[in-house]
Amino acid sequence: MKNQPIGIFDSGIGGTSIWKEVLKLLPYEHTIYLADSKNAPYGEKTSEEIISLSIKNTELLISKGCKLIIVACNTATTNAIDYLRKNYNVPFIGIEPAIKPAALLSKTGAIGILATKGTLTSELFEKTADEYTKNILKIEQDGEGLVPLIEAGKLNSTELNNLLSTYLKPMLNFNIDHLVLGCTHYPYLIPQINRILGKHIKIIDSGEAVAKQTKAILEKNNLCSTKTTFNQHQFYTNTTTKVLSKMLLNVSTKFSVEKLEF
Ligand code: DGL
Repeated sequence: MKNQPIGIFDSGIGGTSIWKEVLKLLPYEHTIYLADSKNAPYGEKTSEEIISLSIKNTELLISKGCKLIIVACNTATTNAIDYLRKNYNVPFIGIEPAIKPAALLSKTGAIGILATKGTLTSELFEKTADEYTKNILKIEQDGEGLVPLIEAGKLNSTELNNLLSTYLKPMLNFNIDHLVLGCTHYPYLIPQINRILGKHIKIIDSGEAVAKQTKAILEKNNLCSTKTTFNQHQFYTNTTTKVLSKMLLNVSTKFSVEKLEF
C-alpha cells in the first residue's frame, strides 16, 4: 500500500495549485489527479450534486489503487467530505478557506473571503467562520464566473480582470488587511489580485497547510512511500488537455496528461 499513489481531485485545474505544494513536500510520492472540468463549476451546484460528483471521483481514484485522497476543492470539501469519510475506507484530506489564520493575523479587524457560492453557503463553512471570527468583520464575496474563465485559460483577459475588480474593490472600503482565497483555482489569480488590492493586503491560501496535513496523515497511517526516486504523476481530465498542460508548464518533474471519460 505504501507505494500506491495519492489521489487528488478537483472540479478542474484549480487543484493543481495544491498538487504543486504536495510535490514540494512529498517528492517521492506518486500521484493521480482528476480534473473534472466537464462538470465545473461545482460552486454553482446543489450540495446533493456536489456529493454525487465527489463520489464518482472518489470511486475512480480508489479503483486506481489510491492510498489516500486529497479533495483539492473547497466546494467539494465543505459539501461532501463528511459523507466521503463515513462511506470509504481511505483517509481523506480536505481543504477549507483559511479563515482562522487570517482572523488571528488581522490588525484592522476586517478580512475578505473570496470563495464559490457552494462554499460560502455550506454548513461546514458557516460553522468554521463563526467559530474563529467572533470579533472580526468578514466581507464574503462569491466569485461567480471566475472558475469558468480560469478553466478556459483566460487568466489575463479583460473580462476576468473586470470581474475580479468588481468583486474585490468594495472590500477596500472596509479596510481589510487579509484576503482569504477560498477556492483552489484562485491562487492562479494572485498577480491580478495584487494589482487590484495592492501588495499591503496579504493573500492567504491553504495549499501549504494541505500538503503538511497530507504528510502528517501518511506518517500516522504508516503509508509514506518507501521510494527514493522521483515518481511519475498522472493527470486525467474529461475535457481538453490543453489548459491543464499549460498550468503545469513550469513544473520540472515528470508527468503525463491524458483525456479520460469520467
Ligand atoms: N477549485 C474549486 C474550489 O476550490 C472550484 C469550485 C468550482 O468548481 O466552482 O472550490
